[in-house]
Amino acid sequence: MGRQLLIDNINQTGIHTLEGYRTYGGYQALEKALRMKPEDIVAEVQKSGLRGRGGAGFPTGMKWSFIAKPPGVPRHLVCNADESEPGTFKDRYLMQRKPHLLIEGMIISSFALGANLSYIYIRGEMMAQFHILQNAIDEAYAAGLLGKNILNSGFDLDLHVHCGAGAYICGEETALIESLEGKRGNPRIKPPFPAVSGVWDRPTVVNNVETIAAVVPVINISGEEYAKIGIGKSTGTKLISACGHINKPGVYEIELGVPVEEFIYSENYCGGIKDGRKLKAVVAGGSSVPILPAELILKTAKGEPRLMSYESLGDGGFATGTMLGSGGFIVMDESTSVVKNLFNFTRFYHHESCGQCSPCREGTGWMEKILRKILDGRGTIADIDLLWDIQGKIEGKTICPLGEAAAWPVAAAIRHFRPEFEEYVKNPQNIKDVKHYYRLNNLQEA
Ligand SMILES: Cc1cc2nc3c(=O)[nH]c(=O)nc-3n(C[C@H](O)[C@H](O)[C@H](O)COP(=O)(O)O)c2cc1C
Repeated sequence: MGRQLLIDNINQTGIHTLEGYRTYGGYQALEKALRMKPEDIVAEVQKSGLRGRGGAGFPTGMKWSFIAKPPGVPRHLVCNADESEPGTFKDRYLMQRKPHLLIEGMIISSFALGANLSYIYIRGEMMAQFHILQNAIDEAYAAGLLGKNILNSGFDLDLHVHCGAGAYICGEETALIESLEGKRGNPRIKPPFPAVSGVWDRPTVVNNVETIAAVVPVINISGEEYAKIGIGKSTGTKLISACGHINKPGVYEIELGVPVEEFIYSENYCGGIKDGRKLKAVVAGGSSVPILPAELILKTAKGEPRLMSYESLGDGGFATGTMLGSGGFIVMDESTSVVKNLFNFTRFYHHESCGQCSPCREGTGWMEKILRKILDGRGTIADIDLLWDIQGKIEGKTICPLGEAAAWPVAAAIRHFRPEFEEYVKNPQNIKDVKHYYRLNNLQEA
């Protein structure tokens, strides 16, 4: 097991309270940060090499350095706590167990960015975490950690938790901003980027929960020390939410660079595949990233061990690689139908498409219908080619990357598992369990 910078002491009784959090060193980073200059905090985050943990992996310090500073115009920090990507359940765990870690990260990051009014935008379904966060914020106000003149530093910060209504699209940063402003969560055309024109048209930084939480250890141990953990440009630790056919599903904090094979089979992490079955495939970074068959997730196309890092998981591009994404690690054993799984994902993207862009609005529904046709035993080889064609006409042709999120899983499933699709088409008499699957998912039988 490597170092734990985020979930250390997470199971200690009372760590969700201010007193408990302080017992384990909480708010020491804030005291240190308030003695620093804001620009030195930004420099420290740049030195750490910390990359956004929301999915895209954009360098956090660089994003912060882009924030516009027109005189007299307020700036905002918004924490993206929407966490709707299927397979990803790390942010809610952190907020539930260590809400003060996120609040400490929000105060330090707001101070660094010169923001005096910041928001945590939380998914509407996460009411338990909402109440836990709100209680922790109330405690922080009462202790002088939020509000006016925080710890006599002269810095003021108000922090609001805003509940969404449970739409996946509201995790996309510009849709989130629209929703926060009280409007329908439709993504905005970029540019302008939020760093120039975000909430209320003011310069805004949007960061994931885990990214903001990671600022606390960066300040505690220094950017330089943080950058020594991990591998190459994948510095620090990363929360991985592991699920599927594994013996020990859960949230793990890894030092980036752990071999994928070790992550799946070691008792320190997933503990191997359930019931001694064989590994078939992995979706390594949440439902949007390309699925990889066992041989490619364990080893790169060059035959090197694949590592849990941005670079290694991406090695080979999408021909043979995938993405670390948000760290939603979905493991599938040999009993899994890739076609059924893809139908499930595609149904989700169809349901969650905001409908602004025709390729996404129409394409996701069309792909769902074709997959349903194949699962019902009515598919043709031409349908598989049509699926391939449609996904290619969504990718890169939409305002926001929900288009890619819907297209990539389809492309990767056909790229790596085409014979499985053909089997459904050529031997429909062998299709099993579909009716049961439809019943489980409340779908009308054909
Ligand atoms: C459809 C869609 C959904 C997204 N959902 C989330 C989410 O739930 N949480 C999140 O942090 N980022 C999500 N993102 C990415 C955000 O747009 C943004 O890149 C991220 O919040 C930036 O934070 P980071 O730099 O700390 O990663 C989503 C993106 C898309 C296109």
